[in-house]
Amino acid sequence: MTSPTPRELAQSGSLDELYKQLAPIRMGAGWAKPTPSLWPEPKKTFLPFVWSYAQAKGALDAAGRLINTELAERRNLIMQNPAGDYATSRTIVCAYQMIMPGEKARSHRHTPNALRLVIDAEPGAFTIVNGERLSMMPGDVVLTPNWCWHGHGNDSRANAYWLDVLDVPLVQLLEPMFFEPHPEEFEKETVVRNASPMHFAWAETERRLAEAGKAANGKPAEIALGEAGAGTSAMDTMALSMIELKAGQATAPRKVMANSVFGVAKGSGSTDAAGTKLSWSRGDVIVVPAWHEHTHRSDDGAVLFRVTDEPVMRKLGFLREGNGKSAH
Ligand SMILES: [Fe+2]
Repeated sequence: MTSPTPRELAQSGSLDELYKQLAPIRMGAGWAKPTPSLWPEPKKTFLPFVWSYAQAKGALDAAGRLINTELAERRNLIMQNPAGDYATSRTIVCAYQMIMPGEKARSHRHTPNALRLVIDAEPGAFTIVNGERLSMMPGDVVLTPNWCWHGHGNDSRANAYWLDVLDVPLVQLLEPMFFEPHPEEFEKETVVRNASPMHFAWAETERRLAEAGKAANGKPAEIALGEAGAGTSAMDTMALSMIELKAGQATAPRKVMANSVFGVAKGSGSTDAAGTKLSWSRGDVIVVPAWHEHTHRSDDGAVLFRVTDEPVMRKLGFLREGNGKSAH
């Protein structure tokens, strides 16, 4: 249909005729939308789910035989929410990654913020972030915020496995995606420091959890890694914390308008998310999409690494918790 004139539109004889005239000029009648544009509370498209590290490890070992880091920018397995084909949650994507002895994963930088929780590695696995070499030992967390150069290497004799967490789905949605390979392919180590704000060592995490546990009055202790959400954070879009469940402990039920992924840093347990029970052990990853009431429990003790988009929700005024009242 050709574009109608103002006069033809003004003389439209019926709603059906008007709708046909509106289609070619890319206008839609707001009173007759095929689907509503507003709804009373979140639709909760994404589903709670758990991914098995043991299965991922098997698949990564196969990938180690079948594809090398020359061909793969990263040898990783993306955790796809059952509700979609890429993202783990609306704003966050997780992947398991493996690098073999002697391999290097090329340096690059991108606008998405990235971080990793090391699951299995021996001394010699490392990430270089903006020229600084950071060790990757089990339980360590390494940050590569927006536009930081980063590449990985493994000088040990064992495969190194870790969990990657990125805000790529958020960046795709908002569209400020930029990516650049390093001009020298592998960034050289140029900075020597003792303590980096991009590195959280497991030993220090355990020490802080033990301290926080004493003050927690029998409840699970939670410590923040970095100052996400405080406006001074290296990570503007994601907040990180470690939660320790002592044997027999459970977290208080939470229903928050923020997406969370949990990497199991230690131990085993289960998560109840809006009636779905997810059992997990070390290395597994649980996603609890926004607005799903959830609780974690452990019979034998566990530490969960939580990554959440709460800073985004808070900055935009969308963070709510519990009974639906604004949480700020
Ligand atoms: Fe990257």
